[in-house]
Amino acid sequence: MGYKEVYASWQDDPEAFWMQAAEAIDWVKPPSKALFEKGGGLYEWFSDGMVNTCWNAVDRHVEGGRAEQVAIIYDSPVTGQQQKITYAELQTRVAAFAGGLAARGIEKGDRVIIYMPMVPEALIAMLAVVRIGAIHSVVFGGFAANELAVRIDDAEPKAIIAASAGLEPNRIVPYKPLLDGAIEIARHKPAFTVILQRDEKPADLKPGYDHDWAELAGADPVGCLPVEGNHPAYILYTSGTTGQPKGVIRHTAGHLVALNWTMKNIYNVDPGEVFWAASDVGWVVGHSYICYGPLFHGNTTIVFEGKPVGTPDAGTFWRVISEHDVKSFFTAPTAFRAVKREDPTGEFIKKYDLSGLRAVFLAGERADPDTIMWAQTQLKVPVIDHWWQTETGYAIAANPLGIELLPVKLGSPSVPMPGYQVDILDEGGHPVAPGTLGAIAIKLPLPPGTLPTLWNAEERFKKSYLASFPGYYETGDAGIKDEDGYLYIMARTDDVINVAGHRLSTGAIEEVLASHPDVAECAVIGVSDALKGQLPLGFLCLNAGADRDSKEVVAECVKLVRDKIGPVAAFKAAVVVDRLPKTRSGKILRGTMVSIADGKAFKMPATIDDPAILDEIREALESLGYAGA
Ligand code: COA
Ligand code: AMP
Repeated sequence: MGYKEVYASWQDDPEAFWMQAAEAIDWVKPPSKALFEKGGGLYEWFSDGMVNTCWNAVDRHVEGGRAEQVAIIYDSPVTGQQQKITYAELQTRVAAFAGGLAARGIEKGDRVIIYMPMVPEALIAMLAVVRIGAIHSVVFGGFAANELAVRIDDAEPKAIIAASAGLEPNRIVPYKPLLDGAIEIARHKPAFTVILQRDEKPADLKPGYDHDWAELAGADPVGCLPVEGNHPAYILYTSGTTGQPKGVIRHTAGHLVALNWTMKNIYNVDPGEVFWAASDVGWVVGHSYICYGPLFHGNTTIVFEGKPVGTPDAGTFWRVISEHDVKSFFTAPTAFRAVKREDPTGEFIKKYDLSGLRAVFLAGERADPDTIMWAQTQLKVPVIDHWWQTETGYAIAANPLGIELLPVKLGSPSVPMPGYQVDILDEGGHPVAPGTLGAIAIKLPLPPGTLPTLWNAEERFKKSYLASFPGYYETGDAGIKDEDGYLYIMARTDDVINVAGHRLSTGAIEEVLASHPDVAECAVIGVSDALKGQLPLGFLCLNAGADRDSKEVVAECVKLVRDKIGPVAAFKAAVVVDRLPKTRSGKILRGTMVSIADGKAFKMPATIDDPAILDEIREALESLGYAGA
């Protein structure tokens, strides 16, 4: 069957389509049906089945003949280490660690925050948590203590599992002081922590509160606890329009069924083959395609601790692909832009045998045609853009390589996957003609594996996603659909920006800037950046009485954002202005600021933290009557 037939088979009978996909999962009790309608626009999948995530990711492969197959390859150019963990070893380590958690009181439904770098123990922690029916919430290591504290207060975890440190190419990031700081700030106090000591920077442990990972690793093993299909496997926080992140919930059964389906149909890998997503477990790509998808499907996954360039050079990706015989590779366009900048003619690519590689997948931000063309020419395999969100957990639109390779249209992540009816709507909620720009919305119900609601925030879920267009889920993206049904994702319709494939809220950065004592008013916009896609740029109006050097205030604001949100915000530049451009009703004209800044930014060599460019932006605003010092 080709794509059209598969998509039509889903449209004709979604219930049968998903029940058939569910047969690939090991159930303790199979579900009686797929879709459960809860009313009010809320849906769940496979709710009355009983199942365990960890069993399907690990134990069933050990029983099914893959015990000696490598499950996880750890490749860490920043530490010079490599490790291979078979499914049998993974089972032993996960079962023991889960036993250690259970012995310390972690039970079904308890939340456990995981704050770790890219080490295999991050996956072991995730799998151990779901093994005993607890719910994990992984927090990206590039977030600062305050962001971690916000998540602690929302998820109210009984425990936090962390590492003593993470390793960035230019520095060691001690996680333990950040963790201690977060627990200090948070209202909710977890009962205990577990710390993986890293040789590069071990941490001091508080006896009785901070447990060494090694203690739990030696615990008596426990088995997999079957949970209801609609039991949450995890919560993953993502940026919304305010400083309060959205806790996306992932239910157990739909997650299993959907991700397992994508491994062959989209990524075209068979069990036993090596699949690599170069992301981080702190992001949804890391959840779905470093940890769960490949393991559900019996693949070998790679945990890569490093950067595409500089660890040690722009050939790292190709070395890993060649050395471990990666068949399907997934990364963000920004990573390719970083490599392309260092190695435009692909000299490093020529050094490696990449004959095993079948395809490259890009997501997380708009894939610019230049980058796709470069990758296609250099790698000589299909380079497939696909579009998704933390909320959906896997691709809404893709080119389903395992079904058939559809013609690639540059600038388009191709066509909707089964489960998704994607419409482009006008402001009144009516579908627009092909080629017309509108809000991208997905007809309800969303398919299995997507978010059923937000943690602790059902009203926010309804307001953010369901209110604008009755009967639809609002994606927050704007775009067009062409005559052939190909989608083009053009921009966000909210205040979310995308920095190096990382989703950030300008509202959250504004909240931090506004807390500076000399800042009277501020705005943050995303401006185009040749490497990271977008970068945040601040506009600051200082208090009337503030007799301060504006450069000093900007420097303090940059530090404040780094300390409060974290280095991942990449907030490096701000312009001090007299007034913000506003409409008569007082609404900030962000569009005006974006177009002024983008006009300048396009000329830039690499980043906007160049004083000359900031001066130009200020002058441009001045000519409109808004800029000041
Ligand atoms: N822990 C602590 N700090 C971290 C971190 C982590 N896990 N991850 C990133 N940071 C820091 C970086 O060191 C950097 O700090 P700096 O300002 O002191 O240099 C800052 O956060 C910004 O990080 P990043 O945006 O990753 O920029 P970079 O310059 O280090 O690397 C790329 C740029 C393009 C190479 C890198 O962003 C990349 O490979 N991106 C891939 C995108 C990705 O994984 N997306 C996930 C969705 S697919
Ligand atoms: P995240 O939740 O971090 O995965 O970010 C999701 C957002 O990233 C989407 O809503 C889009 O705005 C953007 N995005 C992700 N993938 C793509 C893509 N392939 N093309 C364009 N934008 C994308």
